[in-house]
Amino acid sequence: MSTAERILQHLKAGPEGWTSGERLSRELGVSRSAVWKHVRALRRDGYGIDSSPRKGYRLTGTPPWLLPSEIREGLRTRSFGRAELVYCRETDSTNTRAKALASGGAPEGTVVIAETQTGGRGRKGRTWFSPAGEGVYLSLILRPPISPVEAPKITLIAGIAAAETLLARYPGLDVHIKWPNDLLVGGKKVAGILTEISSDMDRVGFVVSGVGLNASGRRFPGEIEPIATSLALETGAPPDRAALVRGYLERYEQWYDLFLTGRARRILDRWKALSRTLGSRVAVDGPNGRITGVARGIGRDGSLLVEDGRGSVHAVFSGDVEAP
Ligand code: BTN
Repeated sequence: MSTAERILQHLKAGPEGWTSGERLSRELGVSRSAVWKHVRALRRDGYGIDSSPRKGYRLTGTPPWLLPSEIREGLRTRSFGRAELVYCRETDSTNTRAKALASGGAPEGTVVIAETQTGGRGRKGRTWFSPAGEGVYLSLILRPPISPVEAPKITLIAGIAAAETLLARYPGLDVHIKWPNDLLVGGKKVAGILTEISSDMDRVGFVVSGVGLNASGRRFPGEIEPIATSLALETGAPPDRAALVRGYLERYEQWYDLFLTGRARRILDRWKALSRTLGSRVAVDGPNGRITGVARGIGRDGSLLVEDGRGSVHAVFSGDVEAP
């Protein structure tokens, strides 16, 4: 934890709000002028901090941003979001940024978060609507020791983590996953997942796992307006985004650990329980054209198994599921 984050921790817990500069300097092992410099930097980040020569410092407000200091506070993960948490007021795409970092050697668990994206990307070259401060736009770098055929399971894990995070915060919310990567609330899309991998024939180099969540926005551009929703629209209030990020990283890490220790069956079972795709009639536009039939299952590799009208089962690795 950085010195600034430790100062914040003290200020948040300070008796009657005030914490003396002397105490901060003693407990953090830095000079009083260093404390003052950090306080000024925190103010520049948007924290309201009163100072008084006799009483010390008092926190009067936290900024509405997804700052690393807000996310890290109380984050119970081993590595996700701890190694490096890169915060951008604006970037083109957190996935693009994370891929560049991963190519430069950034470790597993590195997280990139942006307040807004100017070129947010969805699957199949689509754009992801990323208005400032209204969503969670997050990418996580993973370095699983797996072959590329196993990589689709990472998308399933991300979906499970996102769905469980929402269900933990809002029990009773009608959340489920639509294969492979959509999170729906009340049948409308609240979040999407974009998994990108860098690999050679038999080994994954890194995976960038991106999630975009519509949090507090209430309006969407015309073309997605009928199919999109946000947590604010569904629950009536804007969510605590930092708490959602923490919940997501914590659950993601738990499921990822299970994945690495070979418990793929549990992942598939959990995914099935959270999905409504299985058992329903679907039309999937895959690379070899449209397949219409009934979604029967998920292969061990994360593919969707679609049974067509003649009883043949097709494993589909990518595509869009629609009710035909
Ligand atoms: C989809 O539903 O098509 C996937 C959407 C994924 C959007 C997220 S936002 C954070 C990360 N950065 C991107 O450019 N895309 C993903």
